[in-house]
Amino acid sequence: MDGPAAAGKGTLARRLAQHLGLRYLDTGLLYRAVAAAMLARGLDPAEPAAAVEAARALHANDLAGPRLRDEEVAQGASVVAAHTAVRAALLAFQRRFAAAPPGAVLDGRDIGTVVCPDADAKLFVTASLEVRAARRLKELQERDVEGIESRVLQEMKERDARDSGRDVAPLKSADDAYLIDTTLLEPDEVFDRAVSFIESGDH
Ligand code: DC
Repeated sequence: MDGPAAAGKGTLARRLAQHLGLRYLDTGLLYRAVAAAMLARGLDPAEPAAAVEAARALHANDLAGPRLRDEEVAQGASVVAAHTAVRAALLAFQRRFAAAPPGAVLDGRDIGTVVCPDADAKLFVTASLEVRAARRLKELQERDVEGIESRVLQEMKERDARDSGRDVAPLKSADDAYLIDTTLLEPDEVFDRAVSFIESGDH
């Protein structure tokens, strides 16, 4: 499953994994953990050598913690994710996770195009920029973090542009992915569409 930030991938992927009896990997956490480790040490995520070192040193314990959800970490993740060597360092782990029984749902930006080009079912989940920014704002409020609407919108725009515009594994739909635009849909409708597609065997 691929798509831009706050399109509803996480909610859907987690629910699908549970429904299908599969494991779930939020691959954004890998890039976030690399960025968080760098920022904690005062390193610049734009620095490729330091970023790849942080990616290679990544440990399963690093993939949890509230700091990973911070906007600064999200932007840093988008920056480290543009380094070819960082993506290469994280690829084998993702493929192993996907291939291990009983199988898995992975969400990210390049799952259908690069990580799992032979996935049994591919989904591309998206929504309008405005709706995604509004969802992110609500999420921030629920976490008691102050968010300014215009700033959230601007940051999301920047991250979309960086993730879609980079040379290596840019955010894009695989040709054979099923598209779900969640702009006007409730989470249950999104889930029903995804399940119908997967269970139709039409992929
Ligand atoms: O899904 P997320 O917002 O947690 O992802 C954070 C950043 O990590 C995102 O802006 C781009 C990068 N990313 C990526 O390049 N490839 C992935 N498969 C997942 C995330």
